Amino acid sequence: MPPVRPDVRPVRAPDLAGRKKRGDKLTMIAVYDATMAGLFDEAGVDILLVGDSLGMTILGYNSTVTVTLEHMLHHTRAVARGTRRALVVADMPFLTHRISDTETSRSAGSLLQEGGAAAVKLEGGQSILSSVARLVDAGIPVMGHLGLTPQSVHQLGGFRTQAKDAAAARQLLEDARGLEASGAFAIVLECIPPELAEEVTGAIGIPTIGIGAGPHCDGQVLVSYDMLGLFENPPPFAKQYAKLRGEITRAAGEFVREVKAGEFPK
Ligand code: KIV
Repeated sequence: MPPVRPDVRPVRAPDLAGRKKRGDKLTMIAVYDATMAGLFDEAGVDILLVGDSLGMTILGYNSTVTVTLEHMLHHTRAVARGTRRALVVADMPFLTHRISDTETSRSAGSLLQEGGAAAVKLEGGQSILSSVARLVDAGIPVMGHLGLTPQSVHQLGGFRTQAKDAAAARQLLEDARGLEASGAFAIVLECIPPELAEEVTGAIGIPTIGIGAGPHCDGQVLVSYDMLGLFENPPPFAKQYAKLRGEITRAAGEFVREVKAGEFPK
């Protein structure tokens, strides 16, 4: 862990509802290592999510389903070591909150105790409310995740916009209310129609954090590799604030050329 600095006030899960009330927008970035965590923390990002998107961004899998608790612990430790101010939230990987109460508590507990996270994120609606309540009761802050829940990609039939019809929208609203009632401190809304995200945001007292869900959420989240331009084909909603892919291949190409030409080292 970086040294504790008394002049840096850390972001805490219970503070976020007040931020929503004041209309103070939240920022969250999915990040996987200490160096990047330090940079995003320094830039003032509020929440660093150790997302299970790491399965796709850095481990080369084609979904998040293969990500294990060991992967999450490894990267959560790294992010926690690089963070001073931001709230570190770790994803609970596929099935770890759906097998038994004991496994749910153990897995979430280890992400805090061994990983150094300050909260966990769980994908799902009505079927996970009792797990959310149990974790909150045990002192573990929980962030919810509704809409496109990537761990269910095989059931959803791909990475596509969710809750497009009235029944699914009603269900999502109920799920959001249920998560709030169960003690969740915030909810990620991924790939849902912007009007629905606006309705959910107005209907609950905890912050919504959108990704591909329009501008009306209480905050926004992006995956670091998308927003830094490291992928050739980022999702359409992911704005690229830099184009590092080209910069990295240019730098590496120059290194190759200079070594071959005897220009480096001098
Ligand atoms: O795993 C992840 O990076 C996420 C974000 C896309 C919200 O869940």
